[in-house]
Amino acid sequence: MKTIVFSYPGNELLATKIREGLAADEGQLVMRHFPDGESYVQLISDVADKAVIVVATLHRPDDKFLPLVFLLQLLKESHVKKITLVSPYLAYMRQDKKFKAGEAVTSTYFAALLSGFIDQLITIDPHLHRRSSMAEIYAVPCIVEHAAPLVSEWIRNSVIAPVLIGPDSESEQWVSSVAKDANAPYLVLDKQRMGDREVSVSIPNVAKFKSYTPVLIDDIISTARTMIAALQHFKKAEMQKPICVGVHGVFSGSAFEELVEAGASRVVTSNSIPHASNQIDLAPLIIKALQRT
Ligand code: R5P
Repeated sequence: MKTIVFSYPGNELLATKIREGLAADEGQLVMRHFPDGESYVQLISDVADKAVIVVATLHRPDDKFLPLVFLLQLLKESHVKKITLVSPYLAYMRQDKKFKAGEAVTSTYFAALLSGFIDQLITIDPHLHRRSSMAEIYAVPCIVEHAAPLVSEWIRNSVIAPVLIGPDSESEQWVSSVAKDANAPYLVLDKQRMGDREVSVSIPNVAKFKSYTPVLIDDIISTARTMIAALQHFKKAEMQKPICVGVHGVFSGSAFEELVEAGASRVVTSNSIPHASNQIDLAPLIIKALQRT
């Protein structure tokens, strides 16, 4: 069966690497907006009987979702054999319970909607804090890959005497495995989130790591409040300037600039979301996952 790779607009760099890695055909399409803001989608390539891969990372998902499902539905109607959605950053994973009475558990709603348009989903480190697997909410097979070995490799090759710092107790398992592979000690912050932009953290036992390079690692950097709160502690404790590493650099508003201003010596992310801070290439991981299926 022939494979064809489509890039949802904005995903061209990663989609090209995946297409080349799989020696697949390049999908051609037109996606644009009419003057009234409605979406227009046109398939140029012949997709009949092919395995179709759509690369669409889903940060700021509300703008992307409707055009994406129009594309997926069009593909479905065009007699494809199988649709795989590659969303290195998967949106709507954080509202996974009712934190307050009356709230919508949007991760469940989003998963149900998306599952109706695809045969398979591939993603990297989805925010599975309170759920044990994607199957709890997705009705299609999901392949979850982990960036941890690539994060460890980057730290091993780029940082002298690192001490890794995880954002919260839920991250301990992940941080400890990154630390083990990077041959580095680690700490975990005690974090409290009071609101979207209000986070307080405390860091136990930092004094003994004064000669180390602190490396803050998190799955998502969104408002960057978690990392900025930690940076303030490191400053007070007269530690070295930390490096901030996020798998998914969502960077809402001016979060990236604020992180640099707050004292990060470097900000490093994976290319799950295209950004100037991308240093960790997920393409080999995704290609391997696609080859396995
Ligand atoms: C939370 O559970 C996550 O692991 C991150 O710590 C969080 O998403 C970071 O968000 P922000 O950058 O807005 O503080």
